Amino acid sequence: NETIYILAIESSCDDTSAAVLSNKKVLSNVTATQKIHEEYGGVVPELASRAHQQNIVPVVHQALNKANIDKKLVSAIAFTRGPGLMGSLLVGTSFAKSLSLGLNVPLIEVNHMQAHILAHFIEGQPDGTPEFPFLAMTISGGHTQIVLVRDYFDMEILGETLDDAVGEAYDKSAKILGLPYPGGPLVDKYAQEGNPKAFPFPKPKVGDLNFSFSGLKTNILYFVQRETAKNPDFVQENLKDICASIQKTIIIILMDKLKKAVEQTGITQIAIGGGVSANSGIRNALKIAEKNRGWKTYIPKFEYCTDNAAMIGIVGHLKYQQHNFVKQDVSAKPRYVL
Ligand code: KG4
Ligand code: ZN
Repeated sequence: NETIYILAIESSCDDTSAAVLSNKKVLSNVTATQKIHEEYGGVVPELASRAHQQNIVPVVHQALNKANIDKKLVSAIAFTRGPGLMGSLLVGTSFAKSLSLGLNVPLIEVNHMQAHILAHFIEGQPDGTPEFPFLAMTISGGHTQIVLVRDYFDMEILGETLDDAVGEAYDKSAKILGLPYPGGPLVDKYAQEGNPKAFPFPKPKVGDLNFSFSGLKTNILYFVQRETAKNPDFVQENLKDICASIQKTIIIILMDKLKKAVEQTGITQIAIGGGVSANSGIRNALKIAEKNRGWKTYIPKFEYCTDNAAMIGIVGHLKYQQHNFVKQDVSAKPRYVL
């Protein structure tokens, strides 16, 4: 019954993060968010890897300090192997390998998409822990997936986006409206004060449980161009209603697919994750579904929704128990499938 201490590192996109877990409990979870991308309106891969390089040592130090444990206690190093940006992943992968050599402890590789889902098993989540089997929906700036989770490491993708991720749809719509990057949270904020029925947007016709968001973005762009040609102040005058209408369309798309997944599988436990889980519209829709459809829904604490190392650490813990370690010749895997 020894305590397992995992030091975890996440660097797949634009957040440099390190965490320390004592069994399933998070002792520290430190993230350096890269501000540099704001001025470019999106993540610039080359700049992301450079920033990881600068951030990783201080972030790991802070995580160890906050956890207040001696690094001699660390049982293993867990790191994000993929999917993600190659340059970003290389920084975390190389650092994790060196650390595991230096501390003479095992190395554990983690799939970032599995980690978003297994974040639900971190101790102290507000809705508790889902029971197998359950459905997981990961919604963020980089991902949109519905996954059937049979066991910790037995997952099947039921549907995913064929083009843009849902967070990307939010951010690109926000850009069209002249809002700063990343605009998702702002669209959500304005949406809460607007009329969702003001401007109906068509929903994509995508079969199965897959998603498509690029058509919606184009529809919004043409709509805004058309209306602005008639009235240059259209966006300013109708911002809240436009945001509410966009939000309503996106939530209907997500909820329709979830309902379909529930019908197909008979599973009514739904766990969501990823940055877009913060969205008030999806949270409300899930609460209503709990009441009207008898679903049980799980939303992690926000710090475990966005990219973070604690979720890498919980996977590290679970793999440590199985002695699922990797050798030093492991390499980053930008297209690591679930
Ligand atoms: O998980 P995350 O931090 O990073 C990855 O993409 O992996 O997610 C960030 C995304 C951005 O697209 C951001 O606009 C979106 O999540 N987001 C939101 C909200 N909060 C964050 N989108 C809609 N409503 C929100 N409240
Ligand atoms: Zn992510």
